[in-house]
Amino acid sequence: ASSTEVDVGAIQPGQSIKTTFRKQPLFVKRLTPEEIAEAKADDGANMRDPQTLAERTKEGNEDILVTMGVCTHLGCVPLGAAEGENKGEFGGYFCPCHGSHYDVAGRIRKGPAPLNLAVPEYSFKTDAVIRVG
Ligand code: FES
Repeated sequence: ASSTEVDVGAIQPGQSIKTTFRKQPLFVKRLTPEEIAEAKADDGANMRDPQTLAERTKEGNEDILVTMGVCTHLGCVPLGAAEGENKGEFGGYFCPCHGSHYDVAGRIRKGPAPLNLAVPEYSFKTDAVIRVG
């Protein structure tokens, strides 16, 4: 299986980009300090698929959120990774197919999706480049 490198140094706080990994959509988002605080404040919330922000990011780089851009309900591509797109009620990603709302950490908060957006295997090659897969 092949890996993909993504330049995360160019992603501004609050910005998400959509790329591909093994022919599937991949979202890479740099959280703002406010989004990090919001995600941490929600770590203890009652969630369908409980995971903390720390469990979904790498230590020292918790501002970088890497997830598959594939809704865990029936596989549509959620919105929110491009400028002006609907980020849903929790400010992360929104799947318009059947109305699943993901928060700023990509965790499912409302709607039919059973699981958080999947975090693929990845590592930081440098501060500015990640290798996915
Ligand atoms: Fe996303 Fe159904 S595929 S809500």
